[in-house]
Amino acid sequence: MNILLLGSGGREHALAWKLAQSPLCETLWASPGNPGIREVIAEVNARRDTSDEAGLLGTCFETDLTDHAGIVDFCETHRIGLVVIGPEAPLVDGLADTLRGAGIPVFGPSGRAARLEGSKGFTKDLCEKAGIPTAGYVRAASEAEAMAALDRFGAPVVVKADGLAAGKGVTVAMTMSEAQDAVREIFAGRFGEAGAEAVIEEFLEGEEASYFALTDGGTIVSFGSAQDHKRVGDGDTGPNTGGMGAYSPAPVVTPDIERQVMTRIIAPTVKAMEDEGCPYSGVLYAGLMLTAAGPKLIEYNCRFGDPECQVLMMRLESDLVEVLSACATNRLGAIEPPRFSPRSALTVVMAARGYPGTPDKGGAIAGIAEAEQDGGAKVFHAGTARTGNGELVASGGRVLNVTATGASVGEAKDAAYAAVDRIDFPSGFCRGDIGWREVERERQG
Ligand code: AMP
Ligand code: GLY
Repeated sequence: MNILLLGSGGREHALAWKLAQSPLCETLWASPGNPGIREVIAEVNARRDTSDEAGLLGTCFETDLTDHAGIVDFCETHRIGLVVIGPEAPLVDGLADTLRGAGIPVFGPSGRAARLEGSKGFTKDLCEKAGIPTAGYVRAASEAEAMAALDRFGAPVVVKADGLAAGKGVTVAMTMSEAQDAVREIFAGRFGEAGAEAVIEEFLEGEEASYFALTDGGTIVSFGSAQDHKRVGDGDTGPNTGGMGAYSPAPVVTPDIERQVMTRIIAPTVKAMEDEGCPYSGVLYAGLMLTAAGPKLIEYNCRFGDPECQVLMMRLESDLVEVLSACATNRLGAIEPPRFSPRSALTVVMAARGYPGTPDKGGAIAGIAEAEQDGGAKVFHAGTARTGNGELVASGGRVLNVTATGASVGEAKDAAYAAVDRIDFPSGFCRGDIGWREVERERQG
């Protein structure tokens, strides 16, 4: 099968790495891709017998992800049998609809189904209708309505821009004045269209965890749990980021909690989406708060988490091409459910100094081969580029995902940080405590 992967981050490098391990993967193409994905594609190409099919070798190439007709054209010319869409923006923008309309199998939801991530208000209304446990909320279309809602909840309270805001649209306000500032910012246009509406939410207390499920709209299968670390600094301090590290599985998601999440949150969502006339297909990534009253939904994402995907891929034992392809073609019920290693995987994000503000770009990176020696770790590229003379440099905020496995979270953490120590990235930094909650629990036995 010829496969096209869209996206350029560590999540997509991990997907590429796992897709390439499948005997079903004949050629792999990526747009825009990154230097790590380019290496994966070179390995796929190297194992290919091109004697009678000259020219059919994968590559990374630039496209405009909003040019849906251009992507369909590419897929037809290259006989693409599966498109995997990594990031949320093209999904919310309806790229999967255009591809499906052209008869091209695609992993990822339709634009209307991707509203689960694209509109927080849509998701809250859906949860209310279906009785899915989540924080109490008010949708507000004006500053005055939002301010009135704040009074109703009192501090602490959570203020969210309705639409996609690159992870920056949420304020967990501990005081009323912080909450009022957040409301003013939204309606002053800080998030553009994404802030045309706001959602004011009850503050939930508990530990956060992520849960993943795959569905083709009918069958639903578990795709594991993980825990992310959103704050930039050790001890969960400092500003929010896209995620500074993750591990999987998250033992706080016990088998009992998993059952509750599946029966009270995921399954009713899939059913409600069908009832809405927009059946969901792809990965449902549920951000959960494990409260004293049971797990509650914080938010949905319509794509894999980044860096959660990296730890899931490290543990996945099933053939990723078979799984994603079955999901894309409504055959999820016809294959074995995805299997994962019981071992823990942990990833440490190495970021460029300045992140999550303006990151220092262009810093040299060396030592990846040393970090990966003896198969002890896997380093995924998240924001790297090659200069004209082939030198690897930082090109984004989150730069590398140094990932390892172990019999416990503590062991995986030690292996990942041993690999971090071998990487020479003077303009980079990372958190030193990824996995701390679980390592602490393991220590206490
Ligand atoms: P989101 O961008 O929706 O994932 O929100 C970012 C972060 O804000 C989440 O990971 C939570 O830590 C926090 N958050 C969002 N909603 C709530 C809520 N209702 N109560 C407490 N914390 C929340
Ligand atoms: N790591 C959080 C996210 O992917 O949204």
